[in-house]
Amino acid sequence: MEIPPQRFTAAQVCEAAEEFIRLFHRENPEAGAPCARLAAVREELAETGTYRHTPEELVHGARVAWRNSNRCIGRLYWNSLRVRDRRELVASDEIADECFAHLREATNRGRVRPTVTVFAPDAPDRPGPLIWSEQLVRYAGYGDHPSVTVGDARNAPLTEALLRLGWAGGAGTPFDLLPLVVQGVNDKPRWFDTPADAVLEVPIRHPDDPGWGAWGLRWHAVPAISNMCLEIGGVHYPAAPFNGWYMGTEIGARNLADTDRYNLLPAVARRLGLDTSSDRSLWKDRALVELNRAVLDSFDRAGVTIADHHAESRRFLTHVEREERKGREVGADWSWIVPPISGSATPVFHRTYEDRPSSTAYVHHPGAQERAQGRDLV
Ligand code: ARG
Repeated sequence: MEIPPQRFTAAQVCEAAEEFIRLFHRENPEAGAPCARLAAVREELAETGTYRHTPEELVHGARVAWRNSNRCIGRLYWNSLRVRDRRELVASDEIADECFAHLREATNRGRVRPTVTVFAPDAPDRPGPLIWSEQLVRYAGYGDHPSVTVGDARNAPLTEALLRLGWAGGAGTPFDLLPLVVQGVNDKPRWFDTPADAVLEVPIRHPDDPGWGAWGLRWHAVPAISNMCLEIGGVHYPAAPFNGWYMGTEIGARNLADTDRYNLLPAVARRLGLDTSSDRSLWKDRALVELNRAVLDSFDRAGVTIADHHAESRRFLTHVEREERKGREVGADWSWIVPPISGSATPVFHRTYEDRPSSTAYVHHPGAQERAQGRDLV
């Protein structure tokens, strides 16, 4: 396995560390002046090449990293992120167990709680653990072409790799839970069956058409990204799965609708009796709206937290205002913030943002996408 290169020089780590410690003390006045802590961190860096965050720094750093997520529309509640400090864990089986515990706590019987679990950081002498799976919950995709795949075509390469490795496969439904793939420190990647009780799922039904029930559509309650690196003040936590709650369009306008995912618009249009002979009948657009109504209504009925894109857009602008009042500029990426349907009907559409980088952030690892597809899984 190729080991990702240390991306920061010692001087850069030192600079990022100082910047973060100053920010921590500025935003947490009860912690007092930063001088003593700065001196201690400099000394630790000189001696060991890294430094250990205090529990308070870790919590604040993980929250600020969310605050700095330019692609995330849901940042209004950044300061209430729950942080599970599991920095002592380096072994794959313990990490997998804690990921499943994360899911249970974050699910909270449907009242979804934004949560991050932080595992061991990279150290100068050895990389930290890695989670290969892109999310803690993923559905298998059987078949190698989007048009013939049963399940989530996005996960077909990983499914294939796991089957080759000896995973027995699920029941063959479109919504079989994939195992979680974890690589502990000094270890090869291993897979762990996802316990059914760790995953809450919502059956998708349409409020006006009881026939949807028999269709068997469902989606999981908690989106938990698991293959991004949490960087805080020059320290890299390569395994730090985090979740918020869903916004309906992620499921209804992307996961279930994209042609390279579940590609359900033609089937939805047929159920609705729409004329699909020409794009100009706007059958795709009408099917999208009904699929999104079904997702929101189903989550509501199941008592599972979900945002709609109108409310979440307003919340985002509240966040921008609130941050600006605190003297902080909010970075954002327009193309990610604007929802994938009805963009211009939401207020986030009608303005521009600056997409500014930060040294405390959730970032994509080099090679993460390949790992999420199970490439070179041995
Ligand atoms: N879009 C991804 C999905 O549909 C999840 C990304 C994170 N989403 C969130 N609401 N925190 O699974």
